[in-house]
Amino acid sequence: MLQIGNIKMKNQVVLAPMAGVCNPAFRLIAKEFGSGLVCAEMISDKAILHENERSMQMLYVDEREKPLSLQIFGGSKDSIVAATHVVDEQTNADIIDINMGCPVPKVTKCDAGAHWLLDPDKIYDMVNAVVRNVQKPVTVKMRTGWDEDHIYVLENAHAVEAAGGEAVSVHGRTRYQMYEGLSDWDLLRQVKEAVNIPVIGNGDVNTPQDARQLLDTTGVDGVMIGRAALGNPWMLYRTVKYLEDGSLPPEPTPKEKVDVCMLHMDRLIDLKGEKIAVHEMRKHAGWYLKGLRGGGKVRGKINELNHRDDVADVMYQFAEELEGAAAVTS
Ligand SMILES: Cc1cc2nc3c(=O)[nH]c(=O)nc-3n(C[C@H](O)[C@H](O)[C@H](O)COP(=O)(O)O)c2cc1C
Repeated sequence: MLQIGNIKMKNQVVLAPMAGVCNPAFRLIAKEFGSGLVCAEMISDKAILHENERSMQMLYVDEREKPLSLQIFGGSKDSIVAATHVVDEQTNADIIDINMGCPVPKVTKCDAGAHWLLDPDKIYDMVNAVVRNVQKPVTVKMRTGWDEDHIYVLENAHAVEAAGGEAVSVHGRTRYQMYEGLSDWDLLRQVKEAVNIPVIGNGDVNTPQDARQLLDTTGVDGVMIGRAALGNPWMLYRTVKYLEDGSLPPEPTPKEKVDVCMLHMDRLIDLKGEKIAVHEMRKHAGWYLKGLRGGGKVRGKINELNHRDDVADVMYQFAEELEGAAAVTS
């Protein structure tokens, strides 16, 4: 089973950190759908140190989400050390993760995110300083490298291990690839062979069968799922079950999708208020509706709504229409 430091997960399925997505509302759903570990969206070290209100709210962890990993990004050792100290002392997160994967220029030009991947010695130095300053286990999430000429994933994973990091998650793409091309699972296998700390594999796990294949072909200790879980926490539940006993629970009905989408929205409203939550839920509703016939039209309607009850009306009416149509054809 997946264990990071003294934190034991109940299975190998990990919800990937996703900015704008992995707040307590979605994380709790992911947990209820069985994820062994949920990861929070990245938080800026500097914003924590400046006590930026929004970022401080992002440090909130509901007891029911645990075990949970909070992720920090930053470009300098000193500010990461100071921010992780705050996370260590003031939050009930179980694990502190450091982002070395974010590819966006706004982040990398400040030496943060994937920029770290260019220098294993710097990684060692920073991770070691963090580890010495906190009690919670420290992990790193990285890509394979900066670009195809700078693939230092083995050196970088070694650096994390030598510095006292307790696990490493690897997304099998370079920073240059962004989200294009395939995740290189063979590199994940090489990382697993190269280090003794747990390795979590990530990238292109789109089905429960992919998760099984990733674990079997690379030997990694956990499987991290990102985009496939957007609007689809059933992917997490079905993967947990498939890895457990080879069974594949049925896909959700339209009504079940809408029920969970509305639960998600109601939790987001509790966190952020109706106005912000309804706006943020537009993208999630689109993901929940993906694959349903006529979903695109409904998405268009939802994008114009500002109140929770109006969204609920449109969504439930759509689910009823679909289920009515299915009853007629069956
Ligand atoms: C919307 C979105 C936001 C993301 N935000 C983060 C983040 O905050 N921290 C991080 O380490 N990775 C982030 N990622 C990358 C994912 O964690 C993951 O590595 C990537 O999506 C590949 O996995 P997948 O193929 O399962 O989606 C993000 C990805 C997406 C799609």
